[in-house]
Amino acid sequence: MIRIENLTVQFGAVKPLDDLNVELDAKICGLIGPNGAGKTTLLNVLSGFITPKAGRVDVDGTDLLSLSPVRRVDLGLRRSFQTEQVVEDLSVYDNVLALLDHLGVARAEARRQVSKALHFVGLDREAHRMGAELNLYQRRMLEIARGLVGAPRLLLFDEPGAGMTESEGETLRETLLAIPDEFGPQILLIDHDVELILATCSKTLVLDFGQFLTYGPTADVLAEDIVKRAYLGVDV
Ligand SMILES: Nc1ncnc2c1ncn2[C@@H]1O[C@H](COP(=O)(O)OP(=O)(O)OP(=O)(O)O)[C@@H](O)[C@H]1O
Ligand SMILES: [Mg+2]
Repeated sequence: MIRIENLTVQFGAVKPLDDLNVELDAKICGLIGPNGAGKTTLLNVLSGFITPKAGRVDVDGTDLLSLSPVRRVDLGLRRSFQTEQVVEDLSVYDNVLALLDHLGVARAEARRQVSKALHFVGLDREAHRMGAELNLYQRRMLEIARGLVGAPRLLLFDEPGAGMTESEGETLRETLLAIPDEFGPQILLIDHDVELILATCSKTLVLDFGQFLTYGPTADVLAEDIVKRAYLGVDV
């Protein structure tokens, strides 16, 4: 559960987040809105890349903004990036293992967790290939695998489906749906693919120019006139 209170981010005259208040209680929660709505900015605040001008964020009762980015990782916060970030000259295996090295997990346990995560995202046969050799789909799945080790509590995914083919997108959808039961964390999912959001997210938050537009069951939210106008580009 992520409770956001009075959250404001300001860069000069721009307010990418403007007094946001919402309680994100869905196990897989969607985050949508037009380009520049503040979606990535919210992930940057949660992961510690940006310090907000004002506001408070509690994750399962913990005051997140008082913690350093590293402490947030210790607590189980993980993220992927809109432009996927894979270490090119490390193997797929070591890309995932690096996160556990940081957490100080014992070697045998770390190996078990990395193997499980790679198997889960279908990359076990690529384990010894270098990051630089992966295609876009594999890079995105590797980012997800990195989120699944070391007792994840909250996964933040920024457009993991961008650039995927339809069949790759289907595999992504099945993978995302299976994560909570298999690994336990809550997921906050940004994507422009409304079908993916609808299929995976029980509830969805819609932002528009940094402001809260609506939050609720995904199908209901997508049917709201304000969402159709602001996001789906429908004239209503
Ligand atoms: N570091 C920054 N400095 C100045 N302005 C910024 C910065 N980061 C984001 N912004 C501005 O904040 C607004 C929100 O950006 P953000 O990247 O959060 O949007 P988004 O919803 O993720 O959009 P997209 O769907 O295109 O990824 C935009 O107007 C952007 O230009
Ligand atoms: Mg973005």
